[in-house]
Amino acid sequence: MTTELAVKATSLVKTFDDKEVIKHCNMTVRKGTIYGFLGANGSGKTTIFKMLMGLLIPNAGKVEILGKSSFENKNEILKSIGSMIETPVFYDHLSAKENLELHLSYMGIVNPQIENTLEMVGLEDTGNLPVSKFSLGMRQRLGIARAIIHKPRILILDEPINGLDPMGIRKMRELFLNLVKNHHMTILISSHILSEIEHIADTIGVIVNGRIVEEVSLSSIKNQFPDGLEDYFYNIMSGNGGKIHA
Ligand SMILES: Nc1ncnc2c1ncn2[C@@H]1O[C@H](COP(=O)(O)OP(=O)(O)OP(=O)(O)O)[C@@H](O)[C@H]1O
Ligand SMILES: [Mg+2]
Repeated sequence: MTTELAVKATSLVKTFDDKEVIKHCNMTVRKGTIYGFLGANGSGKTTIFKMLMGLLIPNAGKVEILGKSSFENKNEILKSIGSMIETPVFYDHLSAKENLELHLSYMGIVNPQIENTLEMVGLEDTGNLPVSKFSLGMRQRLGIARAIIHKPRILILDEPINGLDPMGIRKMRELFLNLVKNHHMTILISSHILSEIEHIADTIGVIVNGRIVEEVSLSSIKNQFPDGLEDYFYNIMSGNGGKIHA
């Protein structure tokens, strides 16, 4: 059993309406790293994240989370993952704090650190304001708070910086790096904002039309594409191959 891995997905297949949208994907994420997941709209990022979490059942293939089969240890695994997938949904008439309290009670976790978590995402001043009055960026921040509040071992973030202002983006970047360094988390993050991924990722995975075509260290990308991730991504998307061998 490979205990140094946080996530290992093997030959995942997912079909919607007879159309194979995920085609025999393998994904390997080492513990304590940040995995930046890149791909065009509709390429399959969200679908893969949902399968890793057990929210969608693959037609074929398997997922191991922290060395354990995700299908056989579903509840245990759900507790070890925090996630924000697509646009987070909340109880709109409740405050940020009340939403987090409810979430913790569903999960059966007694956690005295709600204020602290709200501070980590920059929502400490929202008091009793109902979520219905939150801006897009504030909802996004609350989604991140909900994903991290139970101190999961693995954090899955699908487009987490959508709608954040520049200071918010920087704050989240620092938060993600801090969670890996000081809280021993592993982070899987998808984003179309390549410069952001470039700031934080250790490994880059690229999915094209339902196939993960590359998994490579950011440092080897930088060696081959000194101008950065955008050049690398453009190269792959233009079908130039440009395979990097780490
Ligand atoms: N519930 C569903 N029913 C049918 N097709 C679906 C469903 N969910 C996703 N798809 C299809 O699966 C493919 C992959 O979608 P997915 O949402 O995983 O892409 P994505 O990489 O996350 O895209 P984006 O960057 O736009 O978020 C798309 O062709 C999409 O239309
Ligand atoms: Mg998506």
